Amino acid sequence: MSFEITKATKGERVKFNNPNPAFYEALGYNGMQELMYKFYDEIYHGDIAHFFPQDHGEFEEVKKRNTKFFIQICGGPSIYDDEMRGKDLDQYMIDIHKNFSIYLKSRDEWLGTFRSVLMELDIDQAIKDDFWDYLDKFSKLTVNRWPKESAYLY
Ligand code: HEM
Repeated sequence: MSFEITKATKGERVKFNNPNPAFYEALGYNGMQELMYKFYDEIYHGDIAHFFPQDHGEFEEVKKRNTKFFIQICGGPSIYDDEMRGKDLDQYMIDIHKNFSIYLKSRDEWLGTFRSVLMELDIDQAIKDDFWDYLDKFSKLTVNRWPKESAYLY
């Protein structure tokens, strides 16, 4: 199945590949921006909106930094580098998310939102699947609140 959310488990060594540059090549700079803005607009109105700044101007800044990151990670120009001052990009991303309590459910919601914008995107499915694989895997590393061993619920 396309766009499957695979299970995240505590302490797992997650192996992931950065997205194939074909995704960035298919969308271009403007297409990437459009995609990320759509994603964030859905986030703003969804169940994990409370994680993000409620102030409109601040939210716009997050949107912009996020767009730069995704352009860079997808093989576009290195326009996010300024933000991280020489640190390892993956570790920096994980660390940023430590500022927030991200549960399994938050990851599901985040990925669910991404899934809905990707479904509307009219490019080759194999290219989308590869991008999804990055999101599905890397997002496991942003989860930092795990259920108690005996709990069935998140
Ligand atoms: C593939 C997985 C993910 C990637 C690549 C990613 C990427 C990013 C990027 C680039 C930023 C902006 C960093 C900056 O300020 O420079 C960000 C911020 C953020 N992300 Fe993620 N993210 C991922 C998963 C998640 C998940 C699952 C959540 C769940 C809630 C989440 C919540 C947030 C929040 C709350 C912020 C910060 C907003 C703020 O600065 O106030 N992210 N993320």
